[in-house]
Amino acid sequence: MESTTADNRSENGNTGTVDTSTGTERETGSKNTLQSSQLFRLFEDELKDIYWAEHALTKAIPGMIQHATSADLQDSLTNHLEETKVQIERLEQVFEIIGQKATAVKCAAMEGLLKEATTIMQDCKKGAMLDAGIIAAAQKVEHYEIASYGTLRQFATTLGLDDAAELLQTTLDEEKAADEQLTTIAVESINTEACEKEMVKQ
Ligand SMILES: [Fe+2]
Ligand SMILES: [Fe+2]
Repeated sequence: MESTTADNRSENGNTGTVDTSTGTERETGSKNTLQSSQLFRLFEDELKDIYWAEHALTKAIPGMIQHATSADLQDSLTNHLEETKVQIERLEQVFEIIGQKATAVKCAAMEGLLKEATTIMQDCKKGAMLDAGIIAAAQKVEHYEIASYGTLRQFATTLGLDDAAELLQTTLDEEKAADEQLTTIAVESINTEACEKEMVKQ
């Protein structure tokens, strides 16, 4: 992550500690305390990071679909591209929940993973070998997303942002399902086919 900015955060976190305050004031004070915490700042930073990553994926996945040969792989990637667009909308809802404008900050990790995917697509011969390479690259992406959304969901829960946690959990479930589907496609056909073709050449 290249930015640590935390826009519009409230620093007014002491209201709730006054005994004479009303229940609502205590609740607001507690919320403000959480929103000025270091964890909240980290939550914002991670959110901006994955927001950039998801946008980068909407640009990268079409190239993977184009290079893929397997119909199952093409379908799986096409479906996940549509899911990714909805995931971006969910992130925008999370930004709204915390009262912030949706902001993307370049994610160096996703940039590196996508560069690796591009190299694989340039280096592998179209067919089963390239399909296996695309799956390998796509699964690295999914695992990064699973780690990111798992962390974000947990941060949201700890911060008492239950609605945000629910949205992030929905996306986390989609990322896990996409990863499992790629494993199934690889195991059921592509890896064996790529292996056989290489053996015939020898
Ligand atoms: Fe995603
Ligand atoms: Fe994903």
